[in-house]
Amino acid sequence: METNHKIIFGDCLEKLKDIPDESVDLVFADPPYNMSKKKGLDWKFSKHITMQETWDIFGKDEFFEFNLKWLSECFRVLKHGGSLWVSGSFHNIYQLGFIIQNLTDVKINNSIVWFKPNAQPNITCRMFTESTEHLIWATKNGSNQKWKFNYEDTKNEIEDEINPKGKQTRNVWVIPLTPPTEKQTGPHPTQKPIELLRRIIISCSDKGDTILDPFAGSGTTNLVAMQLGRNSIGIERERKYVELIKKKLSREANAKLFKEAKIVLES
Ligand SMILES: C[S@@+](CC[C@H](N)C(=O)[O-])C[C@H]1O[C@@H](n2cnc3c(N)ncnc32)[C@H](O)[C@@H]1O
Repeated sequence: METNHKIIFGDCLEKLKDIPDESVDLVFADPPYNMSKKKGLDWKFSKHITMQETWDIFGKDEFFEFNLKWLSECFRVLKHGGSLWVSGSFHNIYQLGFIIQNLTDVKINNSIVWFKPNAQPNITCRMFTESTEHLIWATKNGSNQKWKFNYEDTKNEIEDEINPKGKQTRNVWVIPLTPPTEKQTGPHPTQKPIELLRRIIISCSDKGDTILDPFAGSGTTNLVAMQLGRNSIGIERERKYVELIKKKLSREANAKLFKEAKIVLES
């Protein structure tokens, strides 16, 4: 089956307007956290520096407005019964949850705690080591209260230290940080592991569905969509990351199994 992958260069607040109502089956969003400082903290014992990305710096009211706008647009383009997954840290996840709870016709099904067993140490030694991210799974219900959940696939295809194969999957997932083998086409400061996207995509979509990522970054969502026979749309506002996505998808498409994938870059 041929799959299509569209990478759109630009600000998602603008570019989402071009996507028709109810045309997307699944949204995965990994938006700005608003945790960056103009100058990140470093530590003499490691090369790690805390976030200092310009796309991740907002004023308080500006951040709320931004989150409300992109979430509303994503629910507009989502089909009835479609799912929206958003990931974040304590810096943004409560605000995102508050906004989602207040949107009409939207139901939160689960929140997932992603535990990272090899998380970075805490540089200040003035608080606990952050070793989780949080995901919200919400569905656009309409009147029929139906959503896609591939229950058997979740039991058979999700496995980790606390989720044995063949059993119901819990809402705590153990997945290590993105390994270097997944960064061979170039670096991105907040690249998600393939395994995280694989779990979301197999749970809430079928082959041939269309998946949207409004904050595509290094293109993990597009890549996993391609690997699993889904179509994808990624929006990214930094040119260098659009180039990275293109490189990553072309490399994957050239591999034996994915000759059928068509990649379109829209500037
Ligand atoms: C947290 S990262 C996403 C990382 C991605 N999940 C991955 O696995 O590589 C957020 C990305 O959104 C982009 N971004 C930030 N604001 C944006 C906006 N308004 N429109 C489109 N992209 C944006 C940033 O450049 C950054 O690459």
